[in-house]
Amino acid sequence: MSERLVVIGSQWGDEGKGKITDYFACRADMVVRYQGGNNAGHTVAFDGNKYSLQSIPSGVFNPHTVNVMGNGMVVNPESVVAELQKLHDRGITDYQLFISDRAAMVMPWHSDLDGAYEAQKGGAKIGTTKKGIGPTYSDKYSRIGLRIGDLLDPEYFAERLKAALEVKNQELRMLGLKEYDFQEVYDRYMQLAGKIGHMITDTSALINEALRSSDKKILFEGAQGMMLCCDHGTYPFVTSSSPSASGVPVGAGVAPKWIDNVLGVAKAYCTRVGEGPFPTELFDERAHEIRERGHEYGTVTGRPRRVGWFDAVVARYTGMLAGIDNWALMLFDVLSGLDKVMICTGYECDGELLQAPPSTISRLARCKPVLIEMEGWKEDISGVRSYDELPEAAKAYVRKIEELTGIPVGIISVGPDRTQTITVSEKLKNF
Ligand code: IMP
Repeated sequence: MSERLVVIGSQWGDEGKGKITDYFACRADMVVRYQGGNNAGHTVAFDGNKYSLQSIPSGVFNPHTVNVMGNGMVVNPESVVAELQKLHDRGITDYQLFISDRAAMVMPWHSDLDGAYEAQKGGAKIGTTKKGIGPTYSDKYSRIGLRIGDLLDPEYFAERLKAALEVKNQELRMLGLKEYDFQEVYDRYMQLAGKIGHMITDTSALINEALRSSDKKILFEGAQGMMLCCDHGTYPFVTSSSPSASGVPVGAGVAPKWIDNVLGVAKAYCTRVGEGPFPTELFDERAHEIRERGHEYGTVTGRPRRVGWFDAVVARYTGMLAGIDNWALMLFDVLSGLDKVMICTGYECDGELLQAPPSTISRLARCKPVLIEMEGWKEDISGVRSYDELPEAAKAYVRKIEELTGIPVGIISVGPDRTQTITVSEKLKNF
């Protein structure tokens, strides 16, 4: 029987999924991305080098690993080609990459529209990455979108492009934006097809074949984080897909029964980029200290990330929704040196004590975190390689997170490098 592992972000994205996926990708036969697009920014570090990936799965550094961009993604061929070029420039040329013929295709107008919709919202803007993610998903569900597989059939692609441009140019005109010329777009996308056409295939068939084989290890790599989930996150300050484990069956084209091992990646504190309520947010010197130490600046946009304490309300909620089996507790070393560390155990809102996030952001914005204070630790733990070597105060912090969430911490990360990873869970050790 194949072995599966789903790695998801359990907060607001940027939890360190790239590192964890890369850590398991070394042993995985297949790595599958199933939602989102080049709004993601996954940082992978090894052998003293640092790489940043946007839409390409994190298993691309291992020549034996099959990398799949699933049907649930929104794929920008221009950006895929640019990302591949960057990898080539740094000597990463030996990889296996397949792109779903059913994946929604990001077109040039989607980022223009993303920017225009944000501008229209004024003070209520979402703070999107302006990569056209939302507009591409909107077109997919409005059934006027183009798909990656269309590129393999130039006549059909031309037909779909004409139909889309009729609608989109009208919208662009109304918004005072530049309209697109059929021939220019057609020629450019056919050029891109020449570069990625050989990677386009029915990836669901590929994944299902691997799932059914007895000795394959398959990793599903989530992007963003569950609090950015369009259904369960801090709507409308969310992304347009489902970063949860429940996004896997639809976004990869596999049956739900295959989803049985979910690793929730969580920072030892919390961060958020973009707008939207963030109950444990810190505004003082400690935020600055954590931000600098954790290099908390967006991989895609370079924006400084907002910083706050670990939120067990969020962790319980995402743990429940995604059926998280283990936590991967990331950037634990960043908390070293603080006198006290805090964990949020509940929210106080309108005289009530809440154990889960409310559905509206107006209510969430009124939530005050109920914090417990714990002893900090002074020791630099970036060289620690086993749980037993951790300072007692750091162990107590880990145990408190397990107690508050009811989910064991299976991995502790104490630095960006592959080697700075403490795997506690036997199941994860054996993956
Ligand atoms: P969009 O996905 O570009 O539409 O942006 C919607 C929201 O999701 C914004 O708040 C973004 O900052 C956030 N977001 C999108 N992708 C990521 C990511 O990979 N990490 C963190 N936040 C993200």
